Amino acid sequence: MTVKQVLITGACGEIGQALVQELAKRGGYEIVTSDLSPLPDSIKGLVSEHVQGDLVYKVKVFYDYDFDVIFHLAASLSSKAEIATEEAHRINVEGTMQLLMLAAYRSEKYGKPVKFLFPSSIAAYGMPTLEAKQGAGAVIEEDWDYPHTMYGCNKLYCEKLGMYYSRYHGQKHLDDTPPTFMDFRAVRFPGLISAFTLPSGGTSDYGPEMLHAAAQGKEYACFVRPDTKISFMAMPDAIKSLIMIMDAPRESLTTDVYNLAAFAITADEFRQRALQAFPDAKITFEPNLRRQGIVDSWPEDVDDTRARQDWNWKPDYDVDRFFDEYFLPEIRKRYGK
Ligand code: SER
Repeated sequence: MTVKQVLITGACGEIGQALVQELAKRGGYEIVTSDLSPLPDSIKGLVSEHVQGDLVYKVKVFYDYDFDVIFHLAASLSSKAEIATEEAHRINVEGTMQLLMLAAYRSEKYGKPVKFLFPSSIAAYGMPTLEAKQGAGAVIEEDWDYPHTMYGCNKLYCEKLGMYYSRYHGQKHLDDTPPTFMDFRAVRFPGLISAFTLPSGGTSDYGPEMLHAAAQGKEYACFVRPDTKISFMAMPDAIKSLIMIMDAPRESLTTDVYNLAAFAITADEFRQRALQAFPDAKITFEPNLRRQGIVDSWPEDVDDTRARQDWNWKPDYDVDRFFDEYFLPEIRKRYGK
């Protein structure tokens, strides 16, 4: 079996840790990682090399590598990005730009398209009002692409940069013999929930934070209103989707950016589910104006028909299976409740 060399940036984050574990389980990958932090013990033994530091400055190290696939997960999430906007732009846009340049250079030089997997987000959308959000239903990729946040602007722009580098870079597609372009593929994730790790700096964090707090018997004040609704997905489904879109034959892809959905529920439904499982949970609502505004600008649900049609995407976990077969059994083991 030929071993594929894979780079995972932001490997210490929630998606990164789960992805490293899944690729190691599948086998056939030499996994190189990068992150600001040292690798956690959970994945240390699965990685052939870890480059620690700021990607914008470290990326030159990677010009000596022969990556088949790059998963560019490093990002400053939406709430954090509103507090340090220029820093977020540097991490989210310049970091992505540097890696795209690397992938484009290698693809062209060696005549082999580097696959570039990019997690975009529901934050790429921007619903102008709550009424528009409630009336829009499940939105498709091209609609409502007017993000209200620095993070959302960064994601939407990086989707466009990815398309540029994979199709039109330097207008070389017009040459008699166009070069090999990189192979860019993006998914727009909803809020993600893992039973093993907690997110930090995001705005969909109220979902996972509430559930982890309830499972540990800790009080939790939810920072959005009870009626706040967006879509969420179990972390195993997020990982499954990244692997599926990586493996999909290029000719089956009809677009560069795919919505993904699993279950759309309100903050109050999270609370009800948490109370059913942990009747002593103490969950209150103390909306934070700014974070509420961010979630209010995200659609209630997204339409993932294209991913379903083009690469047979289907989540394993709807809301019932998410709680009954993934989150609650795992979290009970973890916190011993
Ligand atoms: N989960 C992310 C956030 O809340 C959205 O992609 O920032």
